Amino acid sequence: MKVNGTPTRTIWRAEDGAGVEIIDQTRLPHAFVTTRLETLDDAARAIKDMLVRGAPLIGATAAYGMALAMRADSSDEALNAAHDQLYATRPTAVNLRWALADMKRVLAPLSPSQRENAAWLRAAEICDEDVAINEAIGDHGLALFREAWEKKGKTGTLNVLTHCNAGWLATVDWGTALAPIYKAHDAGLPVHVWVDETRPRSQGASLTAWELNQHGVPHTVIVDNVGGHLMQHGMVDLCIVGTDRTTAAGDVCNKIGTYLKALAAHDNGVPFYVALPSPTIDWSIKDGLKDIPIEERSGEEVSVITGRTEGGEVVSVTITPEGSPCGNWGFDVTPARYVTALVTERGVCRATENGLKGLFPDVAGNAAAE
Ligand code: MRU
Repeated sequence: MKVNGTPTRTIWRAEDGAGVEIIDQTRLPHAFVTTRLETLDDAARAIKDMLVRGAPLIGATAAYGMALAMRADSSDEALNAAHDQLYATRPTAVNLRWALADMKRVLAPLSPSQRENAAWLRAAEICDEDVAINEAIGDHGLALFREAWEKKGKTGTLNVLTHCNAGWLATVDWGTALAPIYKAHDAGLPVHVWVDETRPRSQGASLTAWELNQHGVPHTVIVDNVGGHLMQHGMVDLCIVGTDRTTAAGDVCNKIGTYLKALAAHDNGVPFYVALPSPTIDWSIKDGLKDIPIEERSGEEVSVITGRTEGGEVVSVTITPEGSPCGNWGFDVTPARYVTALVTERGVCRATENGLKGLFPDVAGNAAAE
C-alpha cells in the first residue's frame, strides 16, 4: 500500500543485502520510522516487542530472521537454534510455526554453504506469496461487500466494523480483513469503517486508523465496548476481522475482544466474516478453546498508555492506581458457530471442517497424512 503516495511494504531486504528493513510499528501513528535488523536477535526482538506484529508479518519476519541467522552461522546447530529462538517469541499466531517449518524444510537438506542464499530466496518468496494471498482475499471479500450493498438497496453507506489491525501493517502488503475494504473503496462502494480501538495496545486506534487515513477510507474510531450498541441500532452492515490461528474445524482465534463482537453480531443478525490466509490454518487441531495457546503479556500494557501531547511529544502515562495488578490476555477464541464465513485466497467457505477441506483438499490431505 502507499505511505504518503509511495508504494511501501512492511518488511524488505536492505539494499546492501546484509540486513532487513521494517516499519517500527511501536512508533505509529505519531511517527513513521523504519529500522534495520542485522541479526537473529534483532529479528526475534522485533517480533517479541511487537515492532512488527500481525500473524502473516510475524511469519515473514521469522523467515528473514532465519536468513540473518544463516548469514552469521549456517551450521546444523545454528539452524536448529535459530528456529527455536524465533519460535519462542510469541505463542499464538500459527504463521510463526508455519514459516519456521517451511524455512527448515528448505534449508535442512542443503549443505551449510548453500543455506544463506536459499534462506534469502525463500523469505522473499514467502513475502510475495503473502501479498498475492491477501490480494485474492480482497477480491473474494469484495464480492461479499457487493452482496451486502445490494441487500441494502445500494443506498446510504456500507458500514463495516473491524477489530484490531488486520491491514497491510499486519502482513507484507494489502492486509487480510482490510483488503476487501480497500478493494470496495477503490471500486467506488461508499464504505465507512467502525474501527475498534482495541485495547490495551490500541492496534485499531493507532494502526488501522493510520492505514485508512493513508488510503482515504472514511472511518470512525470507537472504544471496544461500542460495537454491540451500534449493531443493535442497525449501524453495522457487516463485521470483518483477521485471525491468528484458525482450527481445521473453523474455530477462530484473534485479538482479545473478537469473541464479544462475534456474540453481538450473532445476537443482531450481522454477518461476521473472518479473513483467513491459508498459512493461518492449524490443520493439526479442531477445538480452538482447548488447543490454542493464548498469549499473556505484561500488565503494564494495560496500566500504561502512550500518546502525543499538544506540543507533539510522545509520552507514556500510568492510568491505574499504585498497587492494582493488571491482567493481559492477548487473544480469544470465537467458536465456529458464530462465524458467518471464512474469506480465504481460494474463495469463501463455511467455518466448518468440510468447508475448509472443500477449498483446501490438498493441504487438508497432507495434514491428515502427517
Ligand atoms: O498482537 P497482534 O497485534 O500481533 O495481534 C494481531 C491480530 O490479532 C490480527 O488480527 C491477526 O494477527 C491477523 S493479521 C492479518
